[in-house]
Amino acid sequence: MRELKTVSQLEVLRNRKRILANPLPFHSENFKKYGDTFRVKVGPGKAIVFTKDPEIVQQVLQKQQKKFQKSPLQTKDLAKYIGHGLLTAEGEHWRAQRRMIQPAFHRKKLAGLLGTMQLAIKEELQRFEADKTLDVFPLMGDLAFQVVARALFSHSDIRDKMSRLQYITETNQKMLIREMRQPYLVWWFKLSGQINKHLKYSEDSRKLLNEIIEERIGLEREKDDLLDMLLKATYEDGTHMARQQLIDEVLILFTAGHETTANALSFTLFLLARHPEIQEKVYREIQENVRPDMDILEWISKLPLTQQCIEEAMRLYPPVYVIDRMAREDISIADYDFSKGTLLIMSVYELHRHSDFWIDPESFNPGRFSKEHKKKMGPYYYPFGAGPRMCIGNSFAIYEMIMTVVEILSTYTISSMSPTIELNPLISLKPKEVRLNFQER
Ligand code: HEM
Repeated sequence: MRELKTVSQLEVLRNRKRILANPLPFHSENFKKYGDTFRVKVGPGKAIVFTKDPEIVQQVLQKQQKKFQKSPLQTKDLAKYIGHGLLTAEGEHWRAQRRMIQPAFHRKKLAGLLGTMQLAIKEELQRFEADKTLDVFPLMGDLAFQVVARALFSHSDIRDKMSRLQYITETNQKMLIREMRQPYLVWWFKLSGQINKHLKYSEDSRKLLNEIIEERIGLEREKDDLLDMLLKATYEDGTHMARQQLIDEVLILFTAGHETTANALSFTLFLLARHPEIQEKVYREIQENVRPDMDILEWISKLPLTQQCIEEAMRLYPPVYVIDRMAREDISIADYDFSKGTLLIMSVYELHRHSDFWIDPESFNPGRFSKEHKKKMGPYYYPFGAGPRMCIGNSFAIYEMIMTVVEILSTYTISSMSPTIELNPLISLKPKEVRLNFQER
């Protein structure tokens, strides 16, 4: 058995300010010092195992997934704001929800939503102005939020309600980050009423969603959107989802679906702006294959280079940059012993840039994801996770991102003066800002 190298608690304390601002360099230094798997002491008798070992990642997420569960960071801390639905639930409850909701995200079902999603994208992009430099990150945030909103509630006029929901989703997430990064201040957050204030926000968002659902149930006409599919979906015994559960699932789709996609889109646009020759090839691919009279899914499937650019952007900047799991029992993997209760953090960011598995890992090279290369690719790429808890919205996200890149590049040439991008890893990996120049074609 191999012995895990340990980063002391003193070392963590010494670096606490850096870790609070951006933990990625600290992770990276320790991977360099201690190898692909190491342990970080975070308190008396408390440690977290960090890994970028592909064998461990594959065992934990897929081959031995039954022996692991999500950590309390998701099942408790996140769940107190967004409830117990797909992302935050565990065990039988999660399985029943997943089985019920999965069909709504099937490619064929999604095909019926693409027109609505495209409309939302076009509307949001009207806010772009030619010959201007804009920070696209907040714009992509609004765009991704509106796309989920319209996919869920296709025809309702819910702009005001959605702005409120977006505000709540985003401020609650900021609160959660403070709780996670400053656990020593949680007593103060409780005492000063800050946590309660945010829990009250969550209550408000539930009420607001309930109003939209009530309105929908009162309507005679059927709508072919995600809410309709969730309302009609049944468990194996033929019963429907309880109202509170439905509200939790809707909140979770907003939380899981908007920020991740906004981040990935912002990084993709930045990389295309920095690589004009690749951007030009993507533009030509779009020009040659996208026709307004064509079925959307048909032209989406004819844009392999556009998709490869998005995939390569998510390799370099995976929105979900770490995936956590907790061991349900004592277990040995890759010659390491992990005792029951061990918290494992799998660094997707580090694995995606691991020099043993990627040639010239820091460079942007969409060709890595060509059909021929993909066939030979090992288990080193996890932007959507893997195994039974893999992202349910992966096709939704890919379609949305392709449609957005198509809309933008059909109208503008984009460029960036900045050679690098400053990262802001919170719950997801965000850019600080992405200032791009838009020149009309
Ligand atoms: C680029 C965009 C996205 C990325 C990178 C992403 C990434 C991920 C990852 C890595 C997981 C697995 C987490 C884990 O195993 O702990 C996940 C789960 C999930 N994602 Fe996504 N996601 C994206 C977009 C979306 C969208 C658009 C939706 C819905 C509209 C969505 C809904 C979910 C849900 C509900 C789960 C939990 C699934 C379960 O546990 O059964 N995601 N996502």
